[in-house]
Amino acid sequence: MMMMWVSVAAWIGLALYFPIYSFGSYEANLSVAPFSPNWAQYSPFVSQAEYHVPSNCIVTQVNLLERHGARYPTSGSAAQIVSAIDKLTAVGSYTNERMQFLVNYTYDLGVADLLPFGAAQAYQSGETFFQRYSYIVDQDHIPFVRASGSDRVIKSAMNWTAGFSAASYHVYNPSLSVILSEDSNDTLDDNMCENAGNSDEETNAWLAVYAPTITARINDGAPGANISNADTYSLLSMCPFDSVAKEKRSPFCDMFEPADFEGFEYSGDLDKYYGTGYGQELGPVQGVGYVNELLARLTSSPVQDSTQTNHTLDSNPETFPLNRTIYADFSHDNQMIAIYAAMGLFPQSADLDPTSPDPNRSWLASRLVSFSATMMTEKLECAGEEHVRVLVNDAVQPLAFCGSGDGLCSLDAFVESQAYARNDGDGDWEKCF
Ligand SMILES: *[C@@H]1O[C@H](CO)[C@@H](O)[C@H](O)[C@H]1NC(C)=O
Ligand SMILES: *[C@@H]1O[C@H](CO)[C@@H](O)[C@H](O)[C@H]1NC(C)=O
Ligand SMILES: *[C@@H]1O[C@H](CO)[C@@H](O)[C@H](O)[C@H]1NC(C)=O
Ligand SMILES: *[C@@H]1O[C@H](CO)[C@@H](O)[C@H](O)[C@H]1NC(C)=O
Ligand SMILES: *[C@@H]1O[C@H](CO)[C@@H](O)[C@H](O)[C@H]1NC(C)=O
Ligand SMILES: *[C@@H]1O[C@H](CO)[C@@H](O)[C@H](O)[C@H]1NC(C)=O
Ligand SMILES: *[C@@H]1O[C@H](CO)[C@@H](O)[C@H](O)[C@H]1NC(C)=O
Repeated sequence: MMMMWVSVAAWIGLALYFPIYSFGSYEANLSVAPFSPNWAQYSPFVSQAEYHVPSNCIVTQVNLLERHGARYPTSGSAAQIVSAIDKLTAVGSYTNERMQFLVNYTYDLGVADLLPFGAAQAYQSGETFFQRYSYIVDQDHIPFVRASGSDRVIKSAMNWTAGFSAASYHVYNPSLSVILSEDSNDTLDDNMCENAGNSDEETNAWLAVYAPTITARINDGAPGANISNADTYSLLSMCPFDSVAKEKRSPFCDMFEPADFEGFEYSGDLDKYYGTGYGQELGPVQGVGYVNELLARLTSSPVQDSTQTNHTLDSNPETFPLNRTIYADFSHDNQMIAIYAAMGLFPQSADLDPTSPDPNRSWLASRLVSFSATMMTEKLECAGEEHVRVLVNDAVQPLAFCGSGDGLCSLDAFVESQAYARNDGDGDWEKCF
């Protein structure tokens, strides 16, 4: 695997570097992939803030939690997408200019796998991580890496380690040490809580609000296709899926008006909020296991948890060491949402209204759980005292629940604030069964 930096600075006088990643038989050019903030959880990672450490502090430990990189649609979504596209291609002629590409269109996306684009983002994340934190890396302190057991998560973790290693000129070569089976106790997935509900009621209520005019417009452009509102959602989703797969703007994006994607985006925001976030009674408890592992690492003390942790793994220093400076865990969007909710990140003053989005809402899936989204929990030493801060996609979280809201909490106050996790979810875990 190799990487080239193509500098355009030389002829346009700007410090812009477009990375082109070569992975054996394929290349991924991160600069050409379009980004739209309205793609919700299908937005590629974009850093939300410039990284800097407060002047009187040094970082002594980092806990990275990262979503897998961009992927193909999962099997369920792919089936719905294909069914919607089939309705459009079956009619064969279109009165809408922007649908002409369908005359000769064949669906060609894979299923659920990590894309070259997603692999490149994971690789770049590993590089950036090394560059940022190299001062807490040495041969005894290379990252301890775990992944949830899905292929795309494992490959994201391995591309991250490859990027980390390359950035260190192969001096430090972390490996993926633990893969947690998604069929058993797994703090990096949301598969264990049997009674947890889903977001269908809320996303369907919103579909009935935003989709009908779009559906009517598409049906006008493809007379006889008779697509449904649910088909409209699937066709909208082809804009991000096809774009990240092809690394260029998909013709499906141009079938719609820009405002249509605001409806699509809110659907994603609702899905996360009511799926495993604050709007799901048994959402936050699914993040408790990870938070208890985090507390163990921050305090160098054994994991105490009776929810999703695997005690066999977490009580063994080979599979859950407590003497590292860097821990990197790879996971999924729904699980990261559960973890944010268990910790108290992105607090909401009221539940998201399924039929009326707040244009100023802070709950945006694109910021919370983009492809390759990151949460970094840093332990810092500031004037001799231990502190904690949390960054999501590089944005420092205020942590008003344990400090003054400037993003810095004392380690003790942070641990104290995590009572929900330390109490195994205040009885919620039992409600899962
Ligand atoms: C349809 O697509 C195929 C394969 O991409 C191509 O060979 C053919 O020329 C196209 N036909 C038209 C009418 O565009
Ligand atoms: C960390 O703990 C492991 C397992 O007990 C041990 O093998 C390793 O030498 C320790 N590393 C450091 C830097 O203390
Ligand atoms: C990175 O991801 C790609 C695409 O999924 C995969 O083919 C490749 O094996 C991964 N690289 C490593 C080092 O695992
Ligand atoms: C715990 O992890 C071990 C080692 O991976 C595995 O063999 C075991 O099945 C896991 N148990 C549960 C309940 O997840
Ligand atoms: C259009 O599809 C709906 C189901 O989505 C069906 O109930 C209706 O009968 C169809 N209309 C026509 C004209 O085929
Ligand atoms: C797996 O989780 C269940 C449910 O919390 C727990 O009862 C069991 O002890 C755990 N198993 C292991 C090996 O940690
Ligand atoms: C959203 O924020 C803007 C700017 O702060 C404000 O003018 C507007 O009233 C807010 N809208 C709602 C619905 O809260």
